[in-house]
Parts: sequence; C-alpha cells; structure tokens
Amino acid sequence: ALTVPLETLQVLKGHMMQDMRKGLSRQMHAQATMQMLPTFICSMPDGTEKGDFLVAELCQNYVRTLCVTLLGDGNQRPQVMYKIFDMPMNIMQGKGEALFSFIAKCLRQFLAGFSSPQRRFPLGFVFPFSCKQTQLDKAELTSWSKGFKCTGVEGKDVVQLLQSAINKEELYVDVVALMNDTVGTMMTSSVEDKACEVAIIIDAGTNSCFMAEAQQVEMVEESSGRMCVNTEWGCFGDDTTLSGIMTTYDQRVDKESSNPGKKRFEKLVGSLYLGEIVRHVLVALAAEKAVFTGSNAGILRNKDVLKTHQVLEIINHEDGMARTRSTLETLGLRPSERDCCRVQQVCRVVVSRAAALCAAGLAAILTHMCQSRELEQLYVNIGVDGELYRDYTSVTGLLAPECTITLLPSVDGTGRGAAIVTAVALRLADQRREVDQLLSPLRLSRSDLQRVQALMRQEMDLGLGKETNARSSVRMLPTYVRATPDGTERGEFLALDLGGTNFRVLVVRVAEDSIRMASEIYVIPTSIIQGTGVELFNHIVECIMDFQLKQDLMEQILPLGFTFSFPCQQLGLDKAVLLSWTKGFNASGCVGQDVVQLLRDAALRKQHFTLKVVAVVNDTVGTMMSCGYDDPKCEIGLIVGTGTNACYMEEMRNVGTVEGNEGRMCINMEWGAFGDNGCLDHIFTNFDQMVDEKTINPGKQRFEKLISGMYLGEIVRYILLAMVEKRVLFRGKPCPKLQTKDIFQTKFLSTIEIDGLALKKVLAILRDLDLHASFEDSVLVREVCQTVSLRAAQLCAAGMAAVVEKMRENRGLDQLIVTVGVDGTLYKMHPHFSQNLQQTLQVLAPKCSVTFLQSEDGSGKGAALVAAVACRKAGP
Ligand code: G6P
Ligand code: BGC
Repeated sequence: ALTVPLETLQVLKGHMMQDMRKGLSRQMHAQATMQMLPTFICSMPDGTEKGDFLVAELCQNYVRTLCVTLLGDGNQRPQVMYKIFDMPMNIMQGKGEALFSFIAKCLRQFLAGFSSPQRRFPLGFVFPFSCKQTQLDKAELTSWSKGFKCTGVEGKDVVQLLQSAINKEELYVDVVALMNDTVGTMMTSSVEDKACEVAIIIDAGTNSCFMAEAQQVEMVEESSGRMCVNTEWGCFGDDTTLSGIMTTYDQRVDKESSNPGKKRFEKLVGSLYLGEIVRHVLVALAAEKAVFTGSNAGILRNKDVLKTHQVLEIINHEDGMARTRSTLETLGLRPSERDCCRVQQVCRVVVSRAAALCAAGLAAILTHMCQSRELEQLYVNIGVDGELYRDYTSVTGLLAPECTITLLPSVDGTGRGAAIVTAVALRLADQRREVDQLLSPLRLSRSDLQRVQALMRQEMDLGLGKETNARSSVRMLPTYVRATPDGTERGEFLALDLGGTNFRVLVVRVAEDSIRMASEIYVIPTSIIQGTGVELFNHIVECIMDFQLKQDLMEQILPLGFTFSFPCQQLGLDKAVLLSWTKGFNASGCVGQDVVQLLRDAALRKQHFTLKVVAVVNDTVGTMMSCGYDDPKCEIGLIVGTGTNACYMEEMRNVGTVEGNEGRMCINMEWGAFGDNGCLDHIFTNFDQMVDEKTINPGKQRFEKLISGMYLGEIVRYILLAMVEKRVLFRGKPCPKLQTKDIFQTKFLSTIEIDGLALKKVLAILRDLDLHASFEDSVLVREVCQTVSLRAAQLCAAGMAAVVEKMRENRGLDQLIVTVGVDGTLYKMHPHFSQNLQQTLQVLAPKCSVTFLQSEDGSGKGAALVAAVACRKAGP
C-alpha cells in the first residue's frame, strides 16, 4: 500500500497541475488546495547587488541571524557571518509578541558582536509559513504549521510585528522583504548567468516555489514579467485528492498531528512525519506479530520516539543494518536479524514514496512552466534543500520528459538567498526611482492634456483668421472641398497616392451601387525622395504610364485625383503650392511650386499627353471622403501613420482666408506643425529634442514628432540609451547598435505592446537588434514603449478634442455626434493606440460622441470621389 505506481504518480501530477491553475486563477482560487501565493519577487539577482544585508530566519527550534556581504561580483563569493540562537520550547506555543521580541533580541545580540549601534541595515526576514503577501514587505500569516502556535499572529502583518519588536530594541534595522524559505533557496542557488527559477524544500515541512508568468498570477494586478509564486504545496490534497494513496498509517499520523486534516501532502513527505509513518507501520506489523515477536514493542506507541533522521540513517548508511539495530535497541527493543531487515525495508519504502511524491509535484511545476512559456523544451535550474532530494531526479525525468533539470543543492540554507532578495529589492527600488525620473516628463496629466487642447484650439482660431494666420503654427489650409460625398458621384478615374508608406497608382470606378478599384504599389527609392523634383515627378509619371499599360488604359483620358500628403496652400481644387516637405521627403525645387503643374510638366517631358489632373487632396481629406461615402456623419479625417494630420468640415463664415460665408469647407489643419512656434515647448522632453535635432527638418513638425510612426521608435531609442547610461538597463553594458538611428522601428512598439505577448518574443526582438536583454530588461523596454505610445495617443486625443469641440460650438449643439475617418499604419497596427485615443477623447470632450471609422481602401478612393464631384460641377 505504500508504493505508488508510476501511473498513479502521473495522475497525481495532473491533479496537481489542475490545482495550481485553480490556485492562480482569481475565480477558482477559493476551491484550490494549493494557495499559489504571490511573493512580489519579480526579479532575479543580476550579480550587481552589493552591500551588507541582515537576515533573520525563523527555523524549527532556533533563530538564525546572518550578515551577508555581497560584493557585486555576480554573487560568486558572498561573505556570510551567522549566529544561531536556540529557541525555548515555550516560545513556539506562547504569545506572538514574545516570539518577535525574541527574534529582535537575537538580532541585537548578533549586531553587538560586530557593528556599531548607529549603523543602519536592511533586513530580509525568512518566515517559512503560509502568508498572504500584498507587497514584498507586507504579509499576513494565514495559519501556523509545523508545531508553531503563537497567539495573536494569525491574520496580522508579520513584517510589522517584527519591525515594532526591532524598534523596541532601538535597532536601526529596516525590514525590507519577507519571504518564504523556498524563495530564499531559489535565490541562494541563482548566480550570474545561471538563474534558478524553481526551489523545493523538504525539511520538517515541504514546499516549493517557481517563477510564474505574472499575467497568470491573477491575484495580483501585474501583467508584465514573472513573479515568484509560493505554491504551499504542503496543502495539496486537503480535499479528497490524496485519499486514494493515504494509508491507515498516514491517517493516524494526521490525526495525532497539531493540525489534523491539514497539510496532507506535507504529512506524506516532510521529515516531521516520516519517522511517525514508519512508527505506525511498525506498530501494525508488531500487532500482526510480523516483527518484534521476541520483545515488547509497546514503546512504539509513543509519539515521536522514532525520528526521521534515524530513518534516513537507517537507509543511507553503509552500515545500515548496524544502525537499525542500535536505533531499535536504544528504544529498548531486542530486534532479530529479520526484524532489522524488515524495519530497513519499511524505512526505504516510506522514504521512496516521499521522494516519488515530490517528484510528481516537481514534474507538475515543470510542465506548467513549460506550457505557460509556450516552450517545447524547458531547461531549468532547481534549488533544493532538505535531505531527500537525491532520489527524485529520475522519477521527475519519467514524469516530465520535456524538461531538462539541473539540481542545485542549497549551500548554506536560505539565509544567503534572503540577503539577495533584500539586495535585489533595494536595487529595484533604486532602479524604479531612476526609471520614474526618466519617464515622468512623458507622463501627461489630465490638466496637461487640457492645456494642449486649449492651445490647439487657440492655434486653430489664429490659423483661420485672415490677419492672424501667419502667426499660427497650425496652418488651417482651405481645401476647396465643400461637401462630403452624397452618393451621386459616378465615373471612372485615375488616382495617385503619394506621401505615406506606399506610393500607389489606382483606377477607381464609381458606379451606382459600388466602387471598384485596382491599384499597384510602386517603390520610390530614397535617392529620388531626397533627390531633385524633376526626378521625382518623372518617376511618378513613369509609374502612371506603366500602370495604364498594365491596366490597358493607355488610350483613355481619365480624370485624375491626386492624393498628395504634404502641406499645400491650395489656390483651387487643382492648384496646390507645396509649403514644405515632411516625413523625410526632401526633393529639391518643389517647395513654393504648384505640384499639379510639376506633374503636368513631367508628363510633357515624358510625352504623356493624356494626363488630366482635376483635383489634388491631402490624405486626411481623401480619408474623410472615402469614409464619408459609407457614413454621411463622417466629417473629420485623421491620419496617424508615418506622419499625422487632421481635416474637418468648418463653417465658411469662420474661414477668413477664403471669400464667402455660405456653407462649409474642409480645412486641412496640418496639425503636425502644431508647436513649431514654441507654444508646446513645455511638453517637449530632452528625448524629443534629440529626436528633432537628428531629423532633416529640425524645429519643424514638432507635434508630429511626438505622435507619428516615423518618430516613436526613435523616442524609445533615446530613452533606452539614457537608461543604459543610468545603468538601469542591460546592466549598464554599452550597446553600440542602439546608437544607430532608426534601428528601433515603430513597428517594434506595436509588437512589443501586444497583450499577453510572451516576453521571450520581446527578448527575441531585442536580440535581433544585438541587444543582450535579460528578462527584466524586456519588461522595462515594454514599459518605455507603453509610455511613449500612450503619450502619442493622448496628445492626438487632445488635438481631436479641440476639433470636435469647435465643431459642436460652430453648430450650437449640446451634443455633437460625428464620425472620424481614420487611416495610418500606427493607428491600424498598434494594439492600444486607438483605444487610448478614444478613451482620452471621451474624457476631454465629453459632450461629443465620436465614432472612429477605419478607412480600408486608402485615400486614393477619396481623391477619386473629389475628382468625381469636380467633373460633375464642370459639366459634361
Ligand atoms: C492612407 C493613404 C496614404 C496615407 C496613409 C497614411 O491609406 O492612402 O496616402 O499617407 O494612409 O499612412 P502611412 O502609415 O502609410 O503613413
Ligand atoms: C503632412 C500632412 C499629412 C500627414 C499624414 C504630414 O507630415 O504634412 O500633409 O496629412 O503627414 O500623412
């Protein structure tokens, strides 16, 4: 009955995995027997930890105090000084106050041996009982175990209890971290480049911990990185799961323990109980007259006469037989040779069962880790403490073949690990301060955003005024588009789409019931983008001709709509003077010229005599028109892509720069330039400054450079560089690759910020960039990305809030219902941008109900619709 076959172990492993999942889940937590307690330890030592750390460790019948000196050498050679204080029996069962005062007195005595009373020490407290932890230094004792039963401690914060006792002793000691002994063991076994991510302890009691994916630890709000979870597996089977393997001997042991019905798994495994199990087996065998027929075995009825260390000596020693005999004889028994053999056998069986059960538990943890990290094969180091560990590797191998493990026996108990936890906690606190300091200028409050909104509104008004226009950084350009589509547009058109990620040529057929399009993407080499205007427009015409040839459109004269996504002063629907290049374009001889004319000139040069340009539109306008075809409420266009900009329908009476007061006109705001007159200087950070300086248009498009895809990656890169310099990232190791402009692309932000993206994927992105990132580094990089993209979305929302509020006021409405047609790679690809934008907009413009309609076919379609209206107006 005491041997557990492999199949049963396999089943047990399955149950344990199930119980672990329950324990981690918020909903099922209450039904789990394993509590899976969050420890708030999210980081491994990185070897830079340095300084003197105190540790107090509460053990079975003594208190150990340590002073550990870490040298910042990868924790290779920590210096450890310690002292052990025996604990009087009555303390374990007395008043809580007495227990903590005893520990504080031990510390006092210990410190007196080597330090001046004025010196301040951080302290790690090893408290090996089940606690509900809510911070690294806040933990309520759930329940005592292992024979402890001090009053007035359960339900209390033990860190505070210890800290007050320490204060009473007038010691300068700060309790920085509380941890379970398993956590200490895990950390002890971690050295530089060899993280240890699991620990098991099989001592008086038994327990384990491991680094879980933080996202799965649902009892805590943390969703990034990993957190060490204290499984409290000793409680496994406190329902009925273990009934199948619990023998009558185990039941007796349980009944006679200080906590019957509790910690069932621990009672099959912990050294507090193994001797007892053996004793009960022997009592039963004696009763059946199978052993000790020659002597009175009554002594065996006394609790705890047989200790687990004796059991281990019996099975481990070369002279096991002699040990068996002497052990039994000290109990007053007179064993025969056969008795000794039997007893030895019983001891073996009980111990192997314990080891096999631990192996099943360990296998459950490993498979869980392997699965939740989405790995096919897990390589992991395991810290172990306690005397039984030798036997379980082989069984674990059988139960979790996908995991390759290395056992690292803990060298000097959990104390050193506790010091390391304390050191890591302090290092992280320092790091947090540094990180917050770096990122705080990028974190905008609601009032910051309201101010941006108000400034945008102010610039809009200036931009619309005839006299004030020149003073505004937001140009508010008239587009000569006076209405959104009404569904009566018809015909066949060519369209060009220049200025985003792709240059496209299209043919658009607008019929009564549908719009059909065909298009081709053409590459424009950077040498042309930054070459001469003649080359650029020649190239464009060549692409048009190629397209017409392919589409068999060479013979037709189709009206052409030109999406040209740069700021232009429009003098009519088909006359647009380029005011400046943006987004990395820089072809010479174009600024100040009518781009339609430049296109016509190129057509002539290329002997293309059938080109008929009827309208030129900005991409925002194209997008608004294209979405407006499907939704008549769409009166705003927004682009968040390589660049950013917006347009909207303004009342003619407000447009001082165009004659006439009737009706509306679409205004291309060119909000990318917002702030170019200095009005946003309070928002710009050093990082923004550096990004701006390295662009081909420094000082220009300042708002765009906070928001759009061409720049976000660069902002992140500069922040990362600053973090390396402050030594909070990549352990301060220099990263030459990170010096390269544009190496960190905005598309990485979009990937890195995907919810639930396994951090190993983040690591892979960073490794591709030759950045040797640790797990913690990748958590930090993700935080930087989130901060930068959130700010972009919020600023975009502030701009949009100014627009919708103005439209609402224009129309004298209490509530404006409006749709924004939106396009751009950043908006479309980023996992949170649109949501952050919409949420912030709602806060900033609560009286506007704004729907965002994503444009699916690009703004070429919109240009064709504008061309259609133009052709209709011109008449047949
Ligand atoms: C639309 C247009 C492009 C425009 C782009 C912005 O689809 O067709 O002309 O510039 O969106 O997005 P991007 O991310 O390419 O800059
Ligand atoms: C241009 C705008 C354009 C925006 C989005 C900006 O750089 O100045 O005209 O709408 O990018 O593509």
